[in-house]
Amino acid sequence: MPPAQLTLLDQSELLELVPALPAIEEGDNHGAVYTKEWVVDLMLDLCDYRAQRDLSHIRLLEPSCGDGAFLQRIVKRLSDSLRIHGRALADTRDTIRAYDLQGRNVQTARERIAALLVAEGWTNVEAIVAHWIRHADYLLAADGADFDLVIGNPPYIRAQEIPEKRRSTYIRLWGTMTMGTDIFVGFIEKGLRSLKHGGRLCFIVADRWQHNAYGRKLRKLISERYAVEAMFEMHGVDAFAASVSAYPAITLIRNGNQGRVLYASAQTSLDAHGGERLKDWFTRETPGAVSDPMFSACVLPDWFRTDEIWPSGSPEVLAFLEDMAERFQPLEDTATSTKVGIGIATGADDVFITNDAQGIEPEQLIPLLTSADITTGRVQWQGEYLVNPWDEAGQLVELMAYPKLKAYFLQHAVVLKKRHVAQKQQHRWYATIDKVHRGLRDRPKLVLQDMSSTISPVLDTQHYPHHNLYWITSTGWDLEVLGGLLLSEVAELFVRAYGVKMRNGTMRFQSQYLRMIRVPAPGSLNDDLSNALRQAFRDRDRAGATQAALLAYGLNALPRSK
Ligand SMILES: C[S@@+](CC[C@H](N)C(=O)[O-])C[C@H]1O[C@@H](n2cnc3c(N)ncnc32)[C@H](O)[C@@H]1O
Repeated sequence: MPPAQLTLLDQSELLELVPALPAIEEGDNHGAVYTKEWVVDLMLDLCDYRAQRDLSHIRLLEPSCGDGAFLQRIVKRLSDSLRIHGRALADTRDTIRAYDLQGRNVQTARERIAALLVAEGWTNVEAIVAHWIRHADYLLAADGADFDLVIGNPPYIRAQEIPEKRRSTYIRLWGTMTMGTDIFVGFIEKGLRSLKHGGRLCFIVADRWQHNAYGRKLRKLISERYAVEAMFEMHGVDAFAASVSAYPAITLIRNGNQGRVLYASAQTSLDAHGGERLKDWFTRETPGAVSDPMFSACVLPDWFRTDEIWPSGSPEVLAFLEDMAERFQPLEDTATSTKVGIGIATGADDVFITNDAQGIEPEQLIPLLTSADITTGRVQWQGEYLVNPWDEAGQLVELMAYPKLKAYFLQHAVVLKKRHVAQKQQHRWYATIDKVHRGLRDRPKLVLQDMSSTISPVLDTQHYPHHNLYWITSTGWDLEVLGGLLLSEVAELFVRAYGVKMRNGTMRFQSQYLRMIRVPAPGSLNDDLSNALRQAFRDRDRAGATQAALLAYGLNALPRSK
């Protein structure tokens, strides 16, 4: 990875890369979601970009300016500052740089900024505005590493929607981007790399990268070289001109050493008035913990120095997680022989899953558990089998020995051979992506479906879990007692804080999030408590499970979640 302070790209590299890319059409998805004025002002205040300071010295970059929501407020403040400090507009030629990929946005932004400057009494504004606002792809533009402030609202474009050639070019340039990352990951990396020492990046941006696998490289870069200075979770806040379902956070990162963090979690009701109060809070000499009707906020002594998933939630939830990490062990633990895993991926469910038990040798059919079998909170198997190509020792079976299996796979050979896994190793064309774990089928296990609005573990003893189910096995736990703990809102809080949130509050119960759950040692629970948890699990009694879990964790109540 190049050092943070290098000039990002030089012109010769760009000349080589850019002409090879197909032009971007105006109609393509550009991830345009415009930011409201009060949010822009809040962010500028947070970065101390105020007219009272001599802003002609502050080099600022807006990477994706749209029609100028940020630039309008920036240039107004700059203009006021020039007057206060007796400077000329010509002094600011290299003070501001902005980009947008769409020509019509660049034109609108230029017109609006020029009109603003004229209204402010400046003359000869066109040339300087054209120099400030450029029509280019930010991720491919040649910028130095000498900015004081990178600020804006980067585009929300999913990996699959970025034209492929352009995407691979981005990946070559920006180490945190992979074929699966949203474009804003590259914007954060490039923004950070273009900061001078002490410079800051302030984006309002979806917080997915803090929680999911594709954000790992970016979390690593930040925890190794930068400092998170403020994080304001803005889930559901009316921050944009159009309503969007992203879960954004105002994210302030400095090129410097990590210190304290201004942390806030907004109610969906947060508006310009609440924003003013939030500003009053963070501009205090020593901001403490506050609880406002529209947000709660606190100062954290440090940030997460890890590429592991970063949690989000109210200050109370963060304090709860810290307390849990100090007092309890992770759910997956060798001391209790507890393991978390995912069910089998086949690469061709239509072939490998069947409800016709006649066509295959019975020893190569395994009753398969899918999420449809556990929606009621109990196992109600609907009769699907995995057509199993593996033997007991974990080797692919010799098809010669299983004439029915052979005929079945040959019948579906075209589909099976098309799979990525089959193309990599052509002689293993009938292998499933994952192997079958020996013994997992008959072991007692808790299973959870990937997507759900509440945590809902179910006990299974005789099926093999399919890919969209996650499983937990343990020899140290009575699984019904553990099931009671996991059915509780206490356990759910971990997944809520660490996991990616989806539309309508649906959570994902993937292994990486289940592994973040902390649990008391089984031996620390007395018989009454164990019985209460077991009974609550049997009765699917979430309230009872929560009550017993609070006692098990030594808590009086759940932390306030907002
Ligand atoms: C989320 S909007 C934000 C606009 C503006 N900053 C605001 O907050 O109102 C993102 C903008 O990024 C632009 N964009 C998309 N891809 C870009 C790229 N690779 N380089 C520069 N701008 C890009 C889009 O045209 C769109 O105007």
